[in-house]
Amino acid sequence: MCNGVWIKTYGCQMNDYDSGKIMSLLGRHNFHKVDSCQDESCGVVIFNTCHIRDKADQKLFSDIGRLKEIREKRLKKERPFVIVVTGCVAQALGVEITRRSANVDVVIGIQSAHKLPEAIEAVQQYQRSVKKYSPIISIGECNDEKFKCFSTVGASHLGPCAFVTVQEGCKNFCSYCVVPKTRGTEYSRPLAGIKEEVELLIKNGIKEITLGGQNVNAYEGVDENGGKFDLVDLIEEVAGYPEILRIRFLSSHPCNMSKRIIEAFGRIPSLMPALHLPVQAGSDRILRMMNRHYDRSIYLDIITKLRDICPEIALSSDFIVGFPGESDDDFAATLDLAKRVRYAKSYYFKFSPRPNTPAENMPDQIPEEVKEKRLEILQELLDSQQQEFNSETVGSVQSVLFERIGRHDGQIIGRTPYNQPVYVEAEAGIIGSERQVHITDLDKHSLGGILV
Ligand code: SAH
Ligand code: SF4
Ligand code: F3S
Repeated sequence: MCNGVWIKTYGCQMNDYDSGKIMSLLGRHNFHKVDSCQDESCGVVIFNTCHIRDKADQKLFSDIGRLKEIREKRLKKERPFVIVVTGCVAQALGVEITRRSANVDVVIGIQSAHKLPEAIEAVQQYQRSVKKYSPIISIGECNDEKFKCFSTVGASHLGPCAFVTVQEGCKNFCSYCVVPKTRGTEYSRPLAGIKEEVELLIKNGIKEITLGGQNVNAYEGVDENGGKFDLVDLIEEVAGYPEILRIRFLSSHPCNMSKRIIEAFGRIPSLMPALHLPVQAGSDRILRMMNRHYDRSIYLDIITKLRDICPEIALSSDFIVGFPGESDDDFAATLDLAKRVRYAKSYYFKFSPRPNTPAENMPDQIPEEVKEKRLEILQELLDSQQQEFNSETVGSVQSVLFERIGRHDGQIIGRTPYNQPVYVEAEAGIIGSERQVHITDLDKHSLGGILV
């Protein structure tokens, strides 16, 4: 009666991955997923949180606040109602979360996520026996145990595409970023656990794998004999499974974009021609202040080399506008860089000062109105680039891997090798297969087509 779990996931694909694993793991302990905290059987709410920008934190505390009433009602009836905070805010703020909200029962850091079932069961026991208890706080520091556990639990989602975290944390310390403090320093999973997980996914019908990490192209794992193993070795290993039709990797840092990785795009057929390579800014002065360790010419040189090897590659990026000290000229340099690259897709953010990062207290913070205006201008440019990229596909025939049912009746959605969403009218039976599609329509963010 109280074992329904509602999990709300904020942030990036690393968190989506952890949430999927947490749900599968809880399934082994007699918990089941529910779609809302209002569900009668819901007795556990998990917030898997993101700390990257200020708004993400604020949203968490208002979401927790909204559960106060329902939690109190349930506890009065002696029915457990456990509120858990995990993810990057849990890791960063730890015990402070329970100080800011008395409704939180468990705070579990990223490296301890595998310990959640036991923690939830312990709180349920206390609540059932109406005993006083202190919140459970567990902020682990080592990833080995978590990934050992995660390797053996399947994905909790349906569909042919899976994300597999192979690297976690970051040691780059960009001056604006909290990730090195939340996900910890760079950690690469050993090959054995990754293979175990990939084989389990294949048994579940997975056809596309995205190898994921904060800085995935810095992956430096070990093979079964303790030998060094890099991202290209890993891609080749996964490409060796005939069931896996498509491989992608995310997210890459320009400084780790080695010749070997660039060349892989011309050599490994199942490595899809799409790359997310965040540039953040186009001005050398700002890149230096961001501590990115490359300049625009190094970045543009990587793009040229990638296009020499794989001319049709779809490039995507993240941008930050309004970094402290960003002048009109600096911003113009960002626009100019974007125009030179011509991105297929981009994500753009206003700079958000984060606690205990160097950029938080840099002089010349940019006023909100200026950030807004710059974001608007950049958005217009990048959205039109996306439209242009997609419009070039109209009229062609593309190979589409179908993933799920669409919002409209009879609509099935998949993606091209370039990561463009495509919808067709078809039977749900095509989900999980790769089919040729004649692209006929262009929408704001997707393409429409007809099965060939
Ligand atoms: N590891 C990846 C991205 C991780 S965070 C990389 O280095 O590319 C995802 C994106 O959030 C970043 O690329 C950046 O564009 C944005 N971001 C990170 N910190 C931010 C901050 N303080 N304010 C605004 N955007 C931020
Ligand atoms: Fe953050 Fe920079 Fe690391 Fe990306 S590379 S996670 S932006 S510190
Ligand atoms: Fe957010 Fe943590 Fe990802 S801060 S973007 S959930 S690594």
